[in-house]
Amino acid sequence: MTIIDVIEHKKNKKKLTEEEINFMITGMLDGSILDYQISSLLMAIVLNGMDEEETFYLTKAMLNSGDKIDLSKINGIKVDKHSTGGVGDKVTLVLGPLLASLGPKMAKMSGRGLGHTGGTIDKLEAIDGFKVELSQDDFIKEVNDIGLAIISQTGNIVPADKKLYALRDVTGTVDSIPLIASSIMSKKLASGADMIFIDVKVGNGALMKDIDSARSLAKMMINIGRRFDKTVICLLTNMNEPLGNAVGNALEVQEAIETLKGYGPADLIELVINMAALVLNKTEDMPLEDAKTLCLKKLQSGDAYHKFEEMVTYQKGDLTNLKISKRIFSVKSAKEGYINHIDTFGLGEIARLIGAGRLAKTDVIDPSVGFTLTHKIGDYVKVNDELIKIYLNEKDMKIETILNCFDIGMEKVDKEPLIYEIIS
Ligand code: URA
Repeated sequence: MTIIDVIEHKKNKKKLTEEEINFMITGMLDGSILDYQISSLLMAIVLNGMDEEETFYLTKAMLNSGDKIDLSKINGIKVDKHSTGGVGDKVTLVLGPLLASLGPKMAKMSGRGLGHTGGTIDKLEAIDGFKVELSQDDFIKEVNDIGLAIISQTGNIVPADKKLYALRDVTGTVDSIPLIASSIMSKKLASGADMIFIDVKVGNGALMKDIDSARSLAKMMINIGRRFDKTVICLLTNMNEPLGNAVGNALEVQEAIETLKGYGPADLIELVINMAALVLNKTEDMPLEDAKTLCLKKLQSGDAYHKFEEMVTYQKGDLTNLKISKRIFSVKSAKEGYINHIDTFGLGEIARLIGAGRLAKTDVIDPSVGFTLTHKIGDYVKVNDELIKIYLNEKDMKIETILNCFDIGMEKVDKEPLIYEIIS
């Protein structure tokens, strides 16, 4: 077999065999297949697709390309959560401590982000001293002691994804459902949890722009999970505006803390409560409405925040000195009317350009910058009402670029739901 045969097969819309997929992954990692050959195959996959069986073989080959985490020394149900990525998504920072205060454990390995704002690890690193690198033994001990740990990926987990993702990123081959499904599922399966919750973001700030493609991605991941004997539950959630009000690493930590204390923004609370309730429903058979009431109580009582503090202390962080830039500008509306549309991707790009995110792996994030939305979709604003507060440091941003992200009109457009569907 040669890689040219494999590329020709996919180019001619043939189904790839397990041997062909293994050949591709092995050759990519040992260097016998060159980057431009893999890129060509990736483009053929983007254009001609892969069915569920091919995607399963690709996931398996990627999963087997590196280390797998053994969580068997952690007692009880271990839950993992993943988001396909959105603007202002700080759900893990709230959901992890909330679950730990309820019983289910979260032993989570997260990534640093490429894109608008940092990943969960970048957000945690906005906390002074917070250690994201722990040995396997310390990671397991922390989860057994307090029910929660969030660390950066250790060891050699799914090296095939690292290589493939880097190529996809620069060859216009990210937006393919089988490639996204295998990338996410190989990492989740390697992380060793019993139950996997995936927040599939849908909208103009997300990878999936419409519900139909989000649903296809969700179904593919659930079916792959089934083939590996893992329960996967997907939520399809709205990313036509940022989640919560804060975007930027330290600002998002601050908003997560407010939410953990019970007074965060309504959409973030709604999403976290629904996710945590779903976990209780699936792991403990608790009726959903009872579970939601209990989750809300755990936020309002301070129990969930207490778990967050325990995690920060355990990982040597200091919450007394969260650095948020003091160079703050208020951007005011030039129009009167209802906010009917927010260019969420555009706002994410603004966050990245002022230093909250990175384009290249080597870019350094500024945790102190970002913005907070004063108004969101459906709100009525007058001329000169504040739309957004922007926290700058070294980099500047034009006011018109920010204003262009908001469509304001006299006719009110119906607000879409936050959670479109739950699929399991
Ligand atoms: N997130 C991932 O981990 N992989 C993808 O391919 C897309 C989003």
